This record gives sequence, structure tokens and C-alpha cells, in this order.
Amino acid sequence: MAIFSSRKDKGYSSTMANQRVMDPQLLPDEVITTKEDGLRPNCFNEYIGQSSLKEVLGIAVQAAIGRGDPLDHVLLYGPPGLGKTTMAMVLAGELGVKCRVTSAPALERPRDIVGLLVNLQPREVLFVDEIHRLTRVAEELLYPAMEDRRLDLTVGKGSSARTRSLDLPPFTLVGATTRAGSLSSPLRDRFGLTQRLDFYGLQDLQEIIKRTSALLGLELTTQGCIEIARRCRGTPRIANRLLRRVRDFASVRGSVEIIDADLVDEALTLHQVDSRGLDSSDRKLLDLLLDGYGGGPVGLETIAAALGEDPVTLETVVEPFLLQIGFLQRTPRGRVVTDSGRRHLGLEEKI
Ligand code: ADE
Repeated sequence: MAIFSSRKDKGYSSTMANQRVMDPQLLPDEVITTKEDGLRPNCFNEYIGQSSLKEVLGIAVQAAIGRGDPLDHVLLYGPPGLGKTTMAMVLAGELGVKCRVTSAPALERPRDIVGLLVNLQPREVLFVDEIHRLTRVAEELLYPAMEDRRLDLTVGKGSSARTRSLDLPPFTLVGATTRAGSLSSPLRDRFGLTQRLDFYGLQDLQEIIKRTSALLGLELTTQGCIEIARRCRGTPRIANRLLRRVRDFASVRGSVEIIDADLVDEALTLHQVDSRGLDSSDRKLLDLLLDGYGGGPVGLETIAAALGEDPVTLETVVEPFLLQIGFLQRTPRGRVVTDSGRRHLGLEEKI
């Protein structure tokens, strides 16, 4: 499956990403692919976990193929790193079509989105990451495109301006967001399927780590695998990243052939990832609440100002996992560290 990918890495200029995605002359080997791409599953069978998501989408895909229709538009939401992009690629793989990958910040100008839409082939998947960040103009171009496969373009200016309609091929828009609540309701309403991705359980994470280590040619013991699964915050992207850091550590050690739990522990302690997967950002947040405010409650804005962090990043990236493992609570009066959060920090003072 040829994948046209824009870089989601923060700090990568949206203009560059834009040109890469938009240029219809682009050759596949000029396309930016992320390091994750070689490891991504291509079909439902290879995609581990998220069973209810797979069931719902599996039925929709089978029904669409049976009728010869495009798959209805899909909105995937949930914390980062849980496999929204991967699922878009799986959907394209299952439908036997290409997946065009872009993100909302790369669709700033109307011509960006127009170029993408007019170059789609029938039934292709168009994946738009961070879809809550679309501009109003881009959204308004998308509405008729999603609903009636029609692009309404304004040609000319002032009194000579005319609206021209262009027919589009049938296609499936897969939108992904960490902030479903930030989507405008007209946009949200145009998705036929809206699905949430959840954090992964230990069993599924172990399977994902085993799969990746086999693809990377690594010998990882079961205990080593469990140790990574415990520390990856329920998130496959982090699991695969930690595995690479452990691989670096093992290869620099030279004589290490088999990666066991002790080696994983040594490598991840070096990276300040503790036994439950908390990193320095998590600990800074909990330490601030405990040392500065007796454990809370403290408002998000106050925490963000004290940490010099963006409140939205705290809310969408740092907090969801702390809430999930029960170390933090959101109350009407602010954030509070729980007893288990306190106990964990007490036990982990060495990091
Ligand atoms: N790599 C990342 N996420 C995955 C998943 N859910 N299944 C298999 N491999 C993955």
C-alpha cells in the first residue's frame, strides 16, 4: 500500500508538510514516511486490541464492500499514540485502496484542501489528523464534499465572483482528534461512524511489543516484554518508542544478545521512565500539586502557569493517563492527587 504521509512531528513546518502532501506529481519515494510506518499493521487481523472498534469498523467495511459503496466517513478520537493513524491505514488496506495522510494544520489555504480532494481516486481514504484544527474555510469546503461529493468553488472576485461546482469521486474521510469536543457540530454530524480509542491493557501491549520486537529482530524475554508493557502508559506508540530506547541501550552494551527485565529496567531508568511509566512531566505535575498545594485541588490554569506548560497540552496529553491509572482526579474545584498517586511518588523517590 503506498502511503502519502505528512509529518505530524511537532516542529515540522506545515508548509513543507503541505507541499509534500499536495503535490500530485509526487513520486512515492519522495514521500515522507514516519519511522512507525514499517511497523504498522495493514489489516484488522494484524491490529491488536481495540476489539469493539475493530468489530464496528469491520462490519461497516464488509457492508460497504458488499454494496460496492465507499465506506462512510469515520471520526476517531482519543488520547495520542493509540493508533488512530494506524487504523486509517488498516481501513484503506481492508478496502484495497490508498490512504492519503495529512493533518489539519497543513490545510490552511483553500487550495490545499481543493488539491487533495480533486486528486483522490474512487473509494480512497483521506486521513486528516488533528481535524479539530481545520479552518472555517476548509470546513466549509469539506461539508458538501463529505455529504454530496461536491466541491463548491468561488471563481473571481467582487461582483464578478461565481460559484462553480466540481464533482468528486466517492471517498472516505477518516478524521482523527484528541479533542472530539472541539469539533464544530456541523462537522461532527457529517461522520457516519464516530469511535473512541481506549488505552490498551497489559495483555494487548505485550502482544504489540512482541510483534514489534520480532519485526526489529530483537530477542526479548517475556519478563522484559512485561516490563515495557507496564511502563508504556497504555500506549502502543510509547511502547514502540521505549523498545527502541532499550534496543539502543542493548546494542551499546555490546555483548547483550537477549533483552531481559533487568536490562529494560536499567535502560528505562536512564530515560527517567519509572515503574508505572510516569515520565518527568507527570512527576513535575504531581510534585507541584503535592509540594506547592498539599495535593490540591488546584485549577488547570494555575498548574499550567506554574509549570510553564500549555493548559491544552496538560489536559489532552499529560493528564489522561494520570486520570486513567487513578493518580489524579478532576474535581469541580480543581485537580487533586489521589492516595495511590501519593504512595507511588513516595515509592519512586529515587528517580
Ligand atoms: N503497533 C502500534 N499499534 C498497534 C496495534 N494496535 N496493533 C499492532 N501493532 C501496533
